[in-house]
Amino acid sequence: MKVLVVGGGGREHALIRKIKESERVTEIACCPGNGGISYDAQCYPVSATDTDGVVKLAKEIKADFVVVAPDDPLVAGMVDTLNEAGFATFGPKAAAAVIEGSKVFSKNLMLKYNIPTAEYKVFDNAEDAVSYVREKNEFPTVIKADGLALGKGVIIPESFAEAEAGIREIMQDKIFGESGNNVVVEEFLTGPEVSVLAFTDGKCVKPMVSSMDHKRALDGDKGLNTGGMGTVSPNPYYTDEIAAECMDKIFIPTIQAMNAEGRTFKGCLYFGLMLTPKGPKVIEYNCRFGDPETQVVLPRLKTDIMDIFEAINNETLSELAIEWSDDAAACVIIASGGYPKAYPKGLEITGLENGQCDGVVVYHAGTALNGDKLVTSGGRVLGITALGKDLQQALEKSYAAVDTIQFENKHFRKDIGKRALDACK
Ligand code: AMP
Ligand code: GLY
Repeated sequence: MKVLVVGGGGREHALIRKIKESERVTEIACCPGNGGISYDAQCYPVSATDTDGVVKLAKEIKADFVVVAPDDPLVAGMVDTLNEAGFATFGPKAAAAVIEGSKVFSKNLMLKYNIPTAEYKVFDNAEDAVSYVREKNEFPTVIKADGLALGKGVIIPESFAEAEAGIREIMQDKIFGESGNNVVVEEFLTGPEVSVLAFTDGKCVKPMVSSMDHKRALDGDKGLNTGGMGTVSPNPYYTDEIAAECMDKIFIPTIQAMNAEGRTFKGCLYFGLMLTPKGPKVIEYNCRFGDPETQVVLPRLKTDIMDIFEAINNETLSELAIEWSDDAAACVIIASGGYPKAYPKGLEITGLENGQCDGVVVYHAGTALNGDKLVTSGGRVLGITALGKDLQQALEKSYAAVDTIQFENKHFRKDIGKRALDACK
């Protein structure tokens, strides 16, 4: 079987390393991939958002199965086009990917089907949104651009002045483009956050092991929001009891709601949850594997991932038992100094052999090959994942490897997993 993976970050590298374990897979291709991915897959210079280019490539290389990993091609309907061209795929069609593509859609879905989430109001013009926030006068409040915004479309103002400025930037200055035509203003929730990725074929839903992301750039959850600076799995706050409650009140109702709307979701549905004093609530849905959640979840998967992908494609997921290891996993992201703001590219990376390092798995997010030298090419550069009998051991292994990998001005958080360890005490 020849598998094509669309995308080129750490999440795609984690998918590829897992697909490589499948005995049925003979060849893996990736577009566009990156320097480190090219050790594991044949990379082709086709952009992940170029639907026509991806279909053409899939035909040329005679792909048997195409995995579409990032949000933007999913929301744009790449899976629909691939299916029309006759390819078996993993990932939702556009009609279902809207669950991430529009926050207005997802909030209205949750309200209609009684799925617990923060209270909210939708606005299509800045003046009304600003008046509402002024009258409500409760801070912090939460303001979300409706559409995709590279994970940056959420602001949490502490004052009216900040909220007004944020609304005007999103809706009038259009800092996220058309994504800011509508905004959701919602209630600020508190509690530990949990990421749960779930496989679903639209008939049944099989949650994966839980994880915890660390979104801020600096230790102590300070600094700017990033795509994610590290993850651990399992998430100690996510007890069996809470998992059962989420299954009943959130996961199954969401799958049923999407079916009822004629938008059957097939693929990986990501539930961003907050465990509030009033119970678990949905903060966000993503229509895809999370990054860097995938880098701690998939290493714990024991079942052949191609069996899962095919079962979802064929809508026979309920017949497949999915097994997970009891190990804990930790992933520490090494980023370029300056990220998530401006950072240099092209810096030589040392301490890796064929892109890897003993005792851990190195997932490449922003690397390129310059001749036979590996260099930085993105904000998040590498994800260093280790497994251990417990989280402490996984973190020790991961951080030991982080210290041996060097490039100029590398930046990583030193407290990944700290909150999770404290919660275990
Ligand atoms: P998102 O881009 O939707 O993942 O939001 C980014 C982050 O903003 C989340 O991980 C939360 O930490 C925070 N957030 C989003 N919505 C809320 C909310 N209603 N209350 C508190 N924090 C929130
Ligand atoms: N780590 C959060 C996301 O993938 O959106």
